[in-house]
Amino acid sequence: MEIIEKVSQMQRTSEALRASGYLIAFVPTMGFLHEGHIELMRTGKKHADKLVVSIFVNPTQFGPNEDFNQYPRDTEGDLDKSLSAGADIVLFPPVEEMYPEGFQTEVLVKELPDHLCGLSRPGHFDGVTTVVAKLFNIVKPHIAVFGRKDYQQLAVIRRMVKDLNMDLEIIDVGTVREADGLAMSSRNKYLNSEERKSALCLKKSMEMAEKMFKQGQRDARIIKKEMESLIRSHPFTDIDYISLCDPETLEEIHTSGTEVLVALAVRVGKTRLIDNCTLGQHDNSD
Ligand code: PAF
Repeated sequence: MEIIEKVSQMQRTSEALRASGYLIAFVPTMGFLHEGHIELMRTGKKHADKLVVSIFVNPTQFGPNEDFNQYPRDTEGDLDKSLSAGADIVLFPPVEEMYPEGFQTEVLVKELPDHLCGLSRPGHFDGVTTVVAKLFNIVKPHIAVFGRKDYQQLAVIRRMVKDLNMDLEIIDVGTVREADGLAMSSRNKYLNSEERKSALCLKKSMEMAEKMFKQGQRDARIIKKEMESLIRSHPFTDIDYISLCDPETLEEIHTSGTEVLVALAVRVGKTRLIDNCTLGQHDNSD
């Protein structure tokens, strides 16, 4: 496995791979890899000849009061895991390589960021689209793999790729969960044991929404209210949002139709957790 720090070296390597006829799959990450990332890598491997993984904690997607400096990092562990998952190249650029002096360009999707997480994390998705567009230009992949756990991120990136005619395919992968149902996330590491128990309320509340929907409940306000009281009955929780929305536009809905995205963000202690599921689909929790 090759480790590349320089943007120009990555571009030359990808160019050569493409010229030799290899299909390149790309998994962008911020490191502190877990089974969710490994699943993205496995999917990438299945669809291509060469797998490139990037590890870059992107400062521009963190707000001033967010956890950029504290974001968990484990370079050695990440390189071991990438190697075991079959990565051919790890792109590991320093911040100055991605944002050299004078950098002043942003890639913005206009409407999709104005919902869900975008409301409490202003500017977050602008940082994501900018860095992902840059990474696509650096890695030049044929396919890129993202998790459905970050549903809004996936929607925003798909929009950007479509709107800017980027010549690659986005593949999505279902949420990987711990045995008890907690969605895997690098931020789970922040939870103490009491908070870890409370964190299960996200999955439990989605299961309740699924049950209500199956039983014919279509009033989004009633479903949300029940989810809210279930979550509030767990200690250390503070709801950021619960949304029943259109899976394409992410617009809030009041009376649900055939397919509804349930998305939520809950602070458990100081840790902000997100999760989502789609109601009205066969395979609905992931
Ligand atoms: O999902 C993430 O880890 C990040 O948002 C991404 C896509 C790697 C961009 O920094």
